[in-house]
Amino acid sequence: MTETAPMSFYDEVGGHDVFERLVHLFYQGVAADPVLKPMYPADDMDGAEHRLTTFLAQYWVGPSTYSQERGHPRLRMRHQAFHVNPDARDRWLGHMRDAMDALQLPPLHDATLWDYLQRAAHSLVNTFEPTPATTDSATPTSTAPASTAPASTTKEPS
Ligand code: HEM
Repeated sequence: MTETAPMSFYDEVGGHDVFERLVHLFYQGVAADPVLKPMYPADDMDGAEHRLTTFLAQYWVGPSTYSQERGHPRLRMRHQAFHVNPDARDRWLGHMRDAMDALQLPPLHDATLWDYLQRAAHSLVNTFEPTPATTDSATPTSTAPASTAPASTTKEPS
C-alpha cells in the first residue's frame, strides 16, 4: 500500500523543530529591540514563543495545537492592543529575516515563508502614529532610550 497524501509545507520544511528554532531566534532579536521588547510580556516570553510557534506550524498545515489552545487566530484583532506602526513592522520583519538567514532554508522554502511573513506583517499594521515615547517630558535623555518605556503601559490588555 502506498501513501498518497501530499506533504504539507510544514513537513517539507522540517516540521516542528524548524518552526521552534525560527521563533526562538526571532525572539532573541525582539529581546534586544528597544521598540518591540516593551510590547511583549516580560514574564511570559516562553508563552509568547509557544504561541507564535504553534500558530506558524498550524498555518503551514502542521498540528492544530494553536487553535486548540487559543481558538480562532484572529490576528488583526489580537494585535489591536499593540502599537503596530511601519517602524514596528519593519523591526519585526528584520528580526524574522535574521532568524531565517540563520536557518538557511532551501531557497524555495525561504521564499515561500518570507513572502507570507511579509504580507502578514503588512496586514497587521494598525497605526501610522509614531512609536510613543515616555510621555512626561521632551528632554532628550541619553543615547539609550531603549528601556525607558514602562512595560506596564502596554501589558494591560489581555
Ligand atoms: C508587524 C509586526 C508585529 C508586531 C509588532 C507584533 C507584536 C505582537 C505582540 C506584542 C504579541 C503579544 C505576544 C504574546 O503574548 O503572544 C503578538 C502576538 C502574536 N503575534 Fe504578532 N506582531 C507582529 C506581526 C505578526 C505576524 C506577521 C504574525 C504572523 C505571521 C504574528 C503572529 C502572532 C501570534 C500568533 C501571536 C499570539 C496571539 C495570541 O494567541 O494571543 N505577529 N504579536
